[in-house]
Amino acid sequence: MSLQKPSRLRRKASLRNLVRETRLSVDDLIRPIFVTHRNKRFEIKSMPGQFHFPLDEIEETIEATMKLGINGIILFGIPETKDEMGTDCVNKNGIIQQAVKKIRGSFPELIIITDACFCQYTIHGHCGILDKNRSIDRKSSLKQLQKQALSHVGAGADFVAPSCMIDGMVKYIREAFDNNGYENRGILSYAVKYGSAFYGPFRDAVDSAPRDGDRKSYQMDPGNVREALKEAQIDENEGADIIMVKPALPYLDIIRLVKNQVCCPVAAYQVSGEYAMIKAAAQNNWIDEDESMIESLLGIKRAGADIIITYFADAAAKLITS
Ligand code: PBG
Repeated sequence: MSLQKPSRLRRKASLRNLVRETRLSVDDLIRPIFVTHRNKRFEIKSMPGQFHFPLDEIEETIEATMKLGINGIILFGIPETKDEMGTDCVNKNGIIQQAVKKIRGSFPELIIITDACFCQYTIHGHCGILDKNRSIDRKSSLKQLQKQALSHVGAGADFVAPSCMIDGMVKYIREAFDNNGYENRGILSYAVKYGSAFYGPFRDAVDSAPRDGDRKSYQMDPGNVREALKEAQIDENEGADIIMVKPALPYLDIIRLVKNQVCCPVAAYQVSGEYAMIKAAAQNNWIDEDESMIESLLGIKRAGADIIITYFADAAAKLITS
């Protein structure tokens, strides 16, 4: 038999472009945005190039993102006050509610997703309301989650993304939407969310690290695979429109397996620590920032993600379209 020569298809860029199996598109990307009540933009130290945006700069930064062809954002709020119950997260004039209203008014076509959780809003930094044993109280947390989700869609969000990993979260939000005239609003579920060290910079950014204990009793154990499939299946059955795996790069196998199991679109979240690693290494000239960014995003897509939430959204879009 003649020599097998796969390298024949790699001889020049035009050929490599012709036979490339996976391509990134700006349509895949969602940009996370942090909003604050403060009146000045503030750079997040452990996430160079990422900011807390004041309400009156939010439209400007979104406009720039949309000019790059990106059509989706996910919003995180830094509230003015925190308390035991995370009350500010259901406030009509809360940071997310105000931001969504403003953004919706200016950009009717934009896909607005809101993160729904309590850790930014509670003094203790846990992702739900706690009972007297300092464990998550499921019933009262889910009730509060319904109110939070309703206030987000009431302000104009297209999708609410529950990230608290409380059993039943998708079911409760779906019911709240359907019973209140929001049958058309969606749920992007953080269905498969691992208890990960890679959320470190985000927790610094929004001051949401748990004051005592950790999140291991509700976020998933990094060693588990079948549990991920179970979580994904439950959330799809409860009515999630999109299933998310988070973080992305250390869990590419999970993204693929979830993709093969569920019928709805699969999203992956390239989280703060993944972003920070690439940024820090690139700042030291240890790796090339653009190439490693694109390679990591391509890997996430190749694994099966239809949608990628990434702090690199704008930077990647610039490279993809140039
Ligand atoms: C809220 C939430 C977190 C992230 C998204 N939503 C933090 C956490 O669970 O600790 C992490 C995002 C990131 O690291 O970029 N629960």
